[in-house]
Amino acid sequence: REAPLIDPFARRISYLRISVTDRCDFRCVYCMSEDMTFLPKREVLSLEELDRLCSAFVHLGVRKLRLTGGEPLVRRNIIWLFRQLGRHLKSGELDELTVTTNGSQLPKLAGDLYEAGVRRINVSLDTLDPHKFEAITRWGKLDKVMAGLDAAKEAGLKVKINAVALKGVNDDEVHRLVEWAGAEDFDLTFIEVMPMGDIGTEQRIDQYWPLSMVRGELSKRWTLEEIDHRTGGPARYWQVKETGQRLGFITPLTHNFCESCNRVRLTCTGTLYMCLGQDDAADLRSVLRASDDDAVLHEAIREAITRKPKGHDFVIDRRRGVTGASRHMSVTGG
Ligand code: GTP
Ligand code: 5AD
Ligand code: SF4
Repeated sequence: REAPLIDPFARRISYLRISVTDRCDFRCVYCMSEDMTFLPKREVLSLEELDRLCSAFVHLGVRKLRLTGGEPLVRRNIIWLFRQLGRHLKSGELDELTVTTNGSQLPKLAGDLYEAGVRRINVSLDTLDPHKFEAITRWGKLDKVMAGLDAAKEAGLKVKINAVALKGVNDDEVHRLVEWAGAEDFDLTFIEVMPMGDIGTEQRIDQYWPLSMVRGELSKRWTLEEIDHRTGGPARYWQVKETGQRLGFITPLTHNFCESCNRVRLTCTGTLYMCLGQDDAADLRSVLRASDDDAVLHEAIREAITRKPKGHDFVIDRRRGVTGASRHMSVTGG
């Protein structure tokens, strides 16, 4: 048996997030710039290569795989990769295979995801207002996502909604989101906006909304009870007594959760980022292409993990300014 992946801060790496494409059919303002240039196809790993890489991580003890993007479900034939990775669920080596999606392709793919072994998905949705939705995504259509959510339910997938909390954008909707998610039986997680890429420093400062304030606002109308619910992700969960629904808060800015970090991120070019907020990375594509020997790949992954930094140093503060990461969020899908 292989020894588990342990980083220099004694954190066990059991969760791999894989961005399978940098492309997306939307352009969320906090994620991409309007005129993104996308990677040429030759830079991008084939699905077979992604399978080999992910399987190497599973071999080294990773128990949870999450496909992200860009928008993972716009990559051609992506269901093939889900099916391939699903074999690790069947063999018991993997606890969870899942995806974070904008929902637009779910009418087409929800059933296939379920069949490949996916049971729970995260869908990004910041607003229930079609006009605001178009403003945030630059051209996305809310009714497509709603149709996607219906399809997910129909297919038997458990849904968690991710809403980035944005002051002046969706701050008047938080009660409605809780009510709606409760009625639909979706979990809901609010996220503090992180400064990623070269997009709108001023906007980040204006829109940043600490989640302690969101929780304060929600407490006016809902009874929130802290619960011990663990997904292996960074959210801390409460339960809304009135709806019975779980409510999560992801607080990279106000309550750093790096000390319990269990994850690393692979991009569609085979670059492994050890932290969302740091630039250090390992080029696994050249290792992968240089040799068919998986032992070499395992060694390269182990070496990369020895370089995992302690955490990010995101700051959004009127006085101290903004410190973020140089990559856009769409490179690693969060
Ligand atoms: P669950 O399995 O449902 O817990 O999902 P998750 O929270 O691990 O993944 P998801 O893709 O839903 O991510 C939600 C948000 O959490 C995104 O905005 C991510 O960028 C953010 N996030 C996930 N992991 C980290 C992390 O290690 N550091 C930071 N700063 N943010 C993270
Ligand atoms: N800050 C916080 N969350 C973000 N997401 C995308 N960009 C940002 C950002 N700058 C969220 C998306 C999606 C998840 C993967 O990350 O809404 O739900
Ligand atoms: Fe696309 Fe998701 Fe980024 Fe929005 S947050 S542009 S839906 S990848």
